[in-house]
Amino acid sequence: MFSTPKPVKGTRIDTQTVHAGEPSQKPFGSLTMPIVQTSTYCFEDTAALVAHMRRKEQQLEPLRGEYGRYGNPTQEVVERKLAALEGGERALVLSSGMAAITCTLLALLSAGDHYILTADCYRKTRQFSQEFLRRFDVNCTLVEPGDYQALEDAITPHTRLLMTESPTNPYLRVADLPRMAEIARRHGLLTVIDATFGTPYNIRPLEHGMDLVIHSATKYLGGHNDLLAGAVIGAAEYVQRIKEANDMLGAIADPQTLYLLLRGLKTLSLRMARHNENGQRVAEFLASHPAVRQVWYPGLPSHPDHEVARRMMRGFGGVVSFELEADLEGTARFIDALQIPYMGPSLGGVESIVEQPALMSHFTLNEQERAAIGIRGELVRYALGVEDADDLIADLQQALERVPLSVSNSPSLGAGLSR
Ligand SMILES: Cc1ncc(COP(=O)(O)O)c(C=O)c1O
Repeated sequence: MFSTPKPVKGTRIDTQTVHAGEPSQKPFGSLTMPIVQTSTYCFEDTAALVAHMRRKEQQLEPLRGEYGRYGNPTQEVVERKLAALEGGERALVLSSGMAAITCTLLALLSAGDHYILTADCYRKTRQFSQEFLRRFDVNCTLVEPGDYQALEDAITPHTRLLMTESPTNPYLRVADLPRMAEIARRHGLLTVIDATFGTPYNIRPLEHGMDLVIHSATKYLGGHNDLLAGAVIGAAEYVQRIKEANDMLGAIADPQTLYLLLRGLKTLSLRMARHNENGQRVAEFLASHPAVRQVWYPGLPSHPDHEVARRMMRGFGGVVSFELEADLEGTARFIDALQIPYMGPSLGGVESIVEQPALMSHFTLNEQERAAIGIRGELVRYALGVEDADDLIADLQQALERVPLSVSNSPSLGAGLSR
């Protein structure tokens, strides 16, 4: 819709987050991109309508709006910015990260197809792959992250796509992307990565040979715990297919949300630098504390993918997962004693958020089912915000020292907690 984007090609990411994708001149001379709060766009006459439809037919960039489900001006600016940040040809923004994942898989796979997903991933992605898509005869094999032989062995004549998350949720596993891309190329497979935990500040999957990058923009890209959105970025040919699917599925982000996302993206670099610093400092503190059994953070040499992460990533992000020398109740007691973070299921915003996966994302599973996918009761996922690292560490220290971590030392927190 806007012909002259700001000429910032070739600049660094800190400049691009602010300016890339933005029209040089915006409506009404506004510096910020206005919110166009309309469901439909009107044509002045039939000639204008037909000219618009002809461009659409030829898959040329539209010069105007048509109907809200097909996009809006703020969406277009966000998409251009995301494409620039990832170094991709084209981006599509959707209503949530899950909308981006489900719409991508629905658009690119057909009945009879098979794909491979790395196992340590967002639970709803796994459920969609193993339960929902199976109803449509699209089958998925899970392989352990880091096991490239298992990944290659899982390829069948029906395999169309490899999907990974990096870093993963909750163990922050980091994929060797050039290695994965090389396997995919040899077998003619498409590669998709959910890089929500990475962001284009820390990891640039398209440069490492991935075909499509997905984000839950709800997290670091929005950055303020105040919106839900998702995105997929990559070659125009694939993004166009996903857009055509979403024009039918209708998982669009509304103009107000897109405004917030655009505003959040402008400070992505500043926020990520602080998330990276807080992640590293807190991970090092936890790793040195006797009440902490294990810490998973790619910036620690003890992490299984530390060397891969050093090659793939600029910084290691704000999520730190760890297990306490405690049981499920003691861990809950520790979380309740923390004073700075909120307790909740998200990450990537300015406010720190902590969760105990056994009682949050995996609450419906019993202990054996959880054990089968490696989620223990004493696991904590701490998504650090942009507060001061010293304050976050002091808060952790007081909680670790104040609270009895073992149930035998203290009265029960209440019936029904142990599962
Ligand atoms: C890695 C990852 N991918 C996808 C999603 C889903 O994103 P959304 O909540 O925006 O649908 C999440 C949500 O937590 C996530 O952590």
